Amino acid sequence: MNGRKTTKDIRKIYESGKRLTMVTCYDYTFARLVEQAEIEMILVGDSLGNVIQGHDTTLPVEVDDIIYHTRAVMRGNHSAHVVADMPFMSYQASHEVGVMNAGRLLKAGGAQAIKVEGGAHLAPMIQTLVRAGVPVCGHLGLTPQSVHAFGGFHVQGKGEAAKTLIEDALALQDAGAYMLVLEMVPADLAAQVTEELNIPTIGIGAGNRTSGQVLVIQDLLGLNLSFKPKFLKHFATLENDVVGALNAYKDEVVEGTYPDTDHSF
Ligand code: KIV
Repeated sequence: MNGRKTTKDIRKIYESGKRLTMVTCYDYTFARLVEQAEIEMILVGDSLGNVIQGHDTTLPVEVDDIIYHTRAVMRGNHSAHVVADMPFMSYQASHEVGVMNAGRLLKAGGAQAIKVEGGAHLAPMIQTLVRAGVPVCGHLGLTPQSVHAFGGFHVQGKGEAAKTLIEDALALQDAGAYMLVLEMVPADLAAQVTEELNIPTIGIGAGNRTSGQVLVIQDLLGLNLSFKPKFLKHFATLENDVVGALNAYKDEVVEGTYPDTDHSF
C-alpha cells in the first residue's frame, strides 16, 4: 500500500489524542496537494454531486461516479487513508445491494473504507460489511442524502433528538463502524458523543471537541465565496485568485503579449 495510512494508523493517531485531519477530494490534482499538506484522510464524498457536478443535492450521484473519482484520487495521493462515500440508494434498498456496492468501491475504486449515512437501522448491514472485511465509517446529524426528509439543510440533534443521535452513534459503533462523521450538530452534543464513543468522531459543523475535522476542499479553499455556511472558514480565497489569473491570461492573449519569446519555440 506504499505507506498509505490504514485504519490501524488512524486508530493510533486517535489513541494518541492528536486531532485527525480529513478533507474531501475528487481528483488527481487536488489529491497531490493534499499529500503535500500531509492531511491524513481523504473522503471521496458524494458532495461531488454539488461541487463537481453542479447539482443542488447529493442525490443524483451514482456508484460509478464515486469509483471514477476515487481512482483519480488514489493516483494523486499515496499516503492518505481514503474513504469512499456510498451514494444515495446504493445501500438503502437492501442489505445485499449495500454489500455489493461497498465491494465495488473497494475493488474497482481502490478505497480503503466506505461511508454510509444513517443511524441504528443500518447496524445489521454494517455488521455484514465489517465481517466481509469492509471498514465502515458512519455519518450522523445532517445526513445530506435525507435532505428531503429533513426539509432542508438544518442543524440536527437539538432537544429530544440529541438522545436518539447518541443511541445511533453507539449502535453504529457496536455494529463495528471504525469512525463516525458528525455533521451540523450542536458542539456540546458532538463533544458528548465523542466522550461516549471509543472510535474517532470527525466533525463538520460540530464544534472543536470531536476527534478530528473534515471540510469539502473547494469550500475551505474559497473556490466559491458565495457559499458560506456558518461552520465554514475560507482558509484561502482562491475564487479571486483563479478569476484574476484567468483575466490576466485573457488580457494577454487579446493584447498579443502572451506568448512572448520566452514562451515560444
Ligand atoms: O460527501 C461529503 O463530502 C460528506 C462530508 C461533508 C462529510 O459527506
